[in-house]
Amino acid sequence: MGAGQKGALSVGFFASVDGEVVPAEEARVSVLDNGFTFGDSVYETLRTYGGRPFRLDRHLQRLRASAGRLGIAVPLGDPELGARLDAVLARAGNPESYIRLLVTRGRGDISYNFDRVKGPTVVMLVKPYQPYPEQHFRDGVDVIISSVRRNHPQALDPAIKSCNLLNNILAVREAQARGAAEALLLNHAGDVAEGASTNVFVVRSGAVVTPPLDAGILAGITRDVVLALAPRLGLVAREERLSVPDLRGADEAFLTSTTRELAPVRAIDGRPVGSGKPGPTTLRLLAAFREEAAQAAR
Ligand code: PDD
Repeated sequence: MGAGQKGALSVGFFASVDGEVVPAEEARVSVLDNGFTFGDSVYETLRTYGGRPFRLDRHLQRLRASAGRLGIAVPLGDPELGARLDAVLARAGNPESYIRLLVTRGRGDISYNFDRVKGPTVVMLVKPYQPYPEQHFRDGVDVIISSVRRNHPQALDPAIKSCNLLNNILAVREAQARGAAEALLLNHAGDVAEGASTNVFVVRSGAVVTPPLDAGILAGITRDVVLALAPRLGLVAREERLSVPDLRGADEAFLTSTTRELAPVRAIDGRPVGSGKPGPTTLRLLAAFREEAAQAAR
């Protein structure tokens, strides 16, 4: 496409590939990259508040932990990664951005000969952040309990934020086919694990409860913020095994993620949760979360 012919999709959409910043549509990674041939890569999703990436330090820490589990050494320190990200954000110039950081093992020869792989490849994608409609927060969202089980931690540990998202994609496709906004996945033992791209909380007799990390889930950064905020609001917060009846019988339920913040759950498999409206505790936590994010932006 020539200058001035870019589609609306490309506005504010930029990439950094190993440090070179280009419009996202022009960014190129080799077809021999292990990220493509093997799904051999890890990622983080961030968003900005006030133009600044929220909890960047925590995301970089988790990125390194995920990469480390696969024996991929992230080739740059946090200051260098931060500087690269700043360069893409500056070029994109969005009021608020959605950010995806990806690290692949690098360019290989379509084999398990890892010593021949040249890398890692470090990609950063930045596009305008599209907020969820306010109605999501006002009315709540519908979710399903997926027939797809979350990956067993001894098979592909959900704590590793890998670009192998087929487990999540199968569950989301099922949710979409049933008109729901998110799929909740049970773990191998039949307990509630997490959403396809969210963590899940319930409110029960005033306490805020979420499954523990050993349920086989991602250690969500929004989840951590909520667990830290709850006691500051005088609420008891617990990491505790959740069964399906616990979930269905909760007074309130909500999802957490970088992009969704706290999304109240209105119904599970078509059956209302509690009053069927966002609950007071969920809304207090959402307001506190937004205040925390606004403070980080200052
Ligand atoms: N998803 N669980 C899973 C499986 C996730 O993929 C995510 C994040 C979360 C929430 O984590 P956090 O609060 O750190 O965003 C939980 C991101 C948003 C994504 O896939 O784009």
